[in-house]
Amino acid sequence: MFAPGRVNLIGEHTDYNDGLSLPFAIGEGVTADATLRPGHAGVGGDASELVCAVAEELRAAGHDLPGAEIAISSSLAEGEGLSSSAAVGVAVALALLGLAGESCEPVELARLCQRAERRALGTRSGLLDQLAALCAPEGCALRIDFRSLELTPVPLRLGGWRLAVAASGERRELARSGYNERRAECEGAAELLGVGSLRAARRADVDRLPEPMDRRLAHVLGENERVEQTVTALGEGDMSEVGRLLDASHASLRDLYDASTDAVERTVAGLREAGAVGARMMGGGFGGSVLALFTADVELPRRVRAVAPAAGARVLAG
Ligand code: GLA
Repeated sequence: MFAPGRVNLIGEHTDYNDGLSLPFAIGEGVTADATLRPGHAGVGGDASELVCAVAEELRAAGHDLPGAEIAISSSLAEGEGLSSSAAVGVAVALALLGLAGESCEPVELARLCQRAERRALGTRSGLLDQLAALCAPEGCALRIDFRSLELTPVPLRLGGWRLAVAASGERRELARSGYNERRAECEGAAELLGVGSLRAARRADVDRLPEPMDRRLAHVLGENERVEQTVTALGEGDMSEVGRLLDASHASLRDLYDASTDAVERTVAGLREAGAVGARMMGGGFGGSVLALFTADVELPRRVRAVAPAAGARVLAG
């Protein structure tokens, strides 16, 4: 089974706040092959903690897995914010389910992989990466509403423009970055406001919160709006507006969410100097990759890779 990495066009740190995101699957990803090993009690082969956690979660959810050996290969760099962990989890889960002749509904499977990542890696991630890896359709971004879990394909017609990613060079391990802390701050803000999640908060609520929760909420509210504005701009083929929204998202993640680093800022500045129309940190932040938008006539700088919307998880032919 193959599960792709993802690029999140916009909508960062919104998933665990019941908000909106707009990711797409990329061509690079993780392939997991499961082979029956009768008499083998668990999962062997490339069995990292994450692989074992996925198998345990599948069993806990009532799936009858046979003893198996898993072989994993990946074309995704780890720690670059392209969701390599979610791709491993999803590919392994699908490979084990395939071997057992069982199936699982995508949202349920995304939740199961999320639990496995939390157990194995200590990350309290949202569902962005897993849903993108499982459900993103080819040629489209996927608008995800994390409150209703409604998934809407949004055609990504770039009309000659190019999206590209550049690694900041700073490896990121979510659990050890400020990620879990940001999530706790958002939960604290929701509790103070007496709402179930920040999706239910309003602009006026920003002034009712102490620092830094007020800025965290301001980011989440603005970022949800930017997802809707990006969907509209894509529909109108207004790529300059998409570039403006990428820049606005970056400024918000840097100034309101405090999720940037010097290495990320240098990468963003370098991409803008190279002619990017918009650029922003991507994923959890605190390192990882930067996403940038270029017009067709600009030559991509070295070590900047073009990305295009590919299909979500699938069985590989051959
Ligand atoms: C990481 C997490 C996701 C999401 C992003 C930020 O990629 O795994 O769940 O929270 O950060 O948007």
